[in-house]
Formats: sequence, C-alpha cells, structure tokens
Amino acid sequence: MRLGILTGGGDCPGLNAAIRGVVLNGERRYGDSFLGFKDGWRGVLENDAMPLAAQDVEKLIGQGGTILGSSRTNPFAHDGGVMAVKHAIVTNHLDGLVTIGGDDTLGAAHRLAQEGIVALGVPKTIDNDLSGTEVTFGFHTAVQIASDAIDRLNTTAESHHRILVVEVMGRSVGWIATYAGIAGGVAEILVPETPFTLDEICARLQARYERGDRSSIVVVAEGALPKEGPARDAAMAIAASDHVDQFGHAQLGGIGAWVAGAISKATGHESRATALGHIQRGGTPTAFDRILATRFGVGASEAIHRGESDVMVALQADKIVTIPLSEAVGNSKRVDPTFFPSLVNPLLG
Ligand code: F6P
Repeated sequence: MRLGILTGGGDCPGLNAAIRGVVLNGERRYGDSFLGFKDGWRGVLENDAMPLAAQDVEKLIGQGGTILGSSRTNPFAHDGGVMAVKHAIVTNHLDGLVTIGGDDTLGAAHRLAQEGIVALGVPKTIDNDLSGTEVTFGFHTAVQIASDAIDRLNTTAESHHRILVVEVMGRSVGWIATYAGIAGGVAEILVPETPFTLDEICARLQARYERGDRSSIVVVAEGALPKEGPARDAAMAIAASDHVDQFGHAQLGGIGAWVAGAISKATGHESRATALGHIQRGGTPTAFDRILATRFGVGASEAIHRGESDVMVALQADKIVTIPLSEAVGNSKRVDPTFFPSLVNPLLG
C-alpha cells in the first residue's frame, strides 16, 4: 500500500514515535511506502509533502514534537477543501490516510471518510479528552511535567507561606489538572467539568492555614470557570482571547492569575500564579507514551491492512482495538467526579 500520514492540532510528546510505528510496521511487514504531509491538513490541501521511509524514522522514538509539523488547519473551513484532499490522494497514488490527531483532526478525518476517503485515526492529545480510548499518548508526559512543577512549587510555597496557583492545559476537560494535582498532593483542583465557587475554595484554604498549613497549591485547568454569576463573567473576560482557530476554539490562558488575585483579596494571604503553558507539550515523551504511541502506530498499520477505514485505534483493557471514529470525536471524555475519592478535593468527591 501507499499511505499518507499527517499530524494535526496541538503537538504532544509521542507523535514521532507514532509516525515511526506506522512506517516501520508498514514498510517491514507489508512493503508499504509513505508520504508525510507537512503541518497537518495544510499539507494535504496544498499538496506539500515529503517521502517517509524506515530509515527516516528509525531513531525518532524519543524525539519530542513532530517531524511533519502541525497546524490547526480545518479542510472543511476552506472552499474546495474536500476536493483538494481527494486531489492530493489521487495525484500521490495513495491508498489511504493515517491521521494522527485529537478531536479536531480526527473529526475532519471522519467527515472525509464519509466522503469515501480511506482514513484512519490515531489518538494523540495531552488533554486526554478523546472518547473510546482509556488514554491518549502525550497525556502521561504532560502529567509528569506538571507534577514535577508542582513538587518544585511546593517547596517555595512552603518557604514563603504562599498560596501558589498552577495553571495547566485542559480546554474542556481537567484530566491533567486532576492527575497532576493528585500526584502533587495539592489542596485544590479546579476543572472545567465542575464550575467552582471562590468563597468555598477560600474558606478551605483559610481552614488549612488556621490548622498550621501556611502554604497551599491550587491547580487550575485553563478551561475551569466559576459558577454562573459576576465572577464567571469576569473570569471569562480574562481567560478567553478573541483569537479563534479554524475549528472555532478561542485561545485560553489567564484563569490561574485571576484565581490567585481573587484568593489574595479574599483571604489576605499572598497568592501567586504560574502558567505551565506549552512546557507541558514540549520535550521527550515518557517511556509509557513512547510505548503507547508505538502500539497505536502499529495498530493503525494493521487496521488499514485489514481493510478498515473511518476508525480510530484505541486502548481498551490494555489491548489495541479499533472503534468507529464517530464514537471517538465530538464527545469529550470528561473527568468523572467520582473517579477519585473525595480526600483530595471536595469538588471532585
Ligand atoms: O491540544 C489541546 C491543547 O493542549 C489545549 O489544552 C490548549 O487549549 C491548546 O492545546 C493550546 O494550544 P495552542 O496554544 O497550540 O493553540
């Protein structure tokens, strides 16, 4: 077979390992050849691509980012986008596309598969919000980075008796905040799934202070917001910029600083914020993510040779399976409030 590969959306550690898995398995087991489209769907629309062979990917397992580049280009936001994708497939004599991405990239792959294009999805995202798979690659690395940062913030918070607020990524779900927060033993975890009440948070932080814990860490996902009311309106005005990408998502950031300001004002204790931002997506993947990305890549290669299309590889009960793309996208996997016992955060319990 001759296959196109692309990586779309926000990058994450493990993308290169996934590309490597697809190419090594395909070339060595089936004699496939590959074309790598540059910068996600942009490369397909503009037919901007590079050949990919086993020798190009062999040493990539631990390399962060993606050698193909990425973008938030949406083929359905461009006039003639579907025709351009079909044209790229025909011109390059491709039998199908392996699309490595999150909800947006794989949502486009699903719509294209409905148009008759052979397309498979490989789930990546640090946010871990794709349904149908227990975990996406990139998430484990992001949690490790965030929990290491929390450990560091903890010691300086203790020295200065401060309340430190850590803002992590998570546009619509709080998986990174929840996992890193629990791993870091923090006082409060604020997630998009459960709108928070500042008064309750401040009362709990004050109670900690009064029983002798003069420092606290609060983890807040970038998409977390207070419950309806003036506080929510004020937080929204700060945390979402006017810039909207081709999939309609506003750029987020700033809720951490807003929460820290509100805590200082309400408790009288000094509170500061740190936004971890893209640090969570950069650098080498953990061993777990290297292995998961490799298994997904190999799984996608096997699935396309079984004649499957419009499916996503997924991890279920430690097995690589395929599920319809329609079940995976447009349906965020949210943090279940009962997922962890309530000892860490009453909001989650
Ligand atoms: O890929 C998802 C994500 O990690 C979100 O949590 C975040 O809102 C977004 O990426 C930010 O990405 P960028 O700054 O590259 O647009």
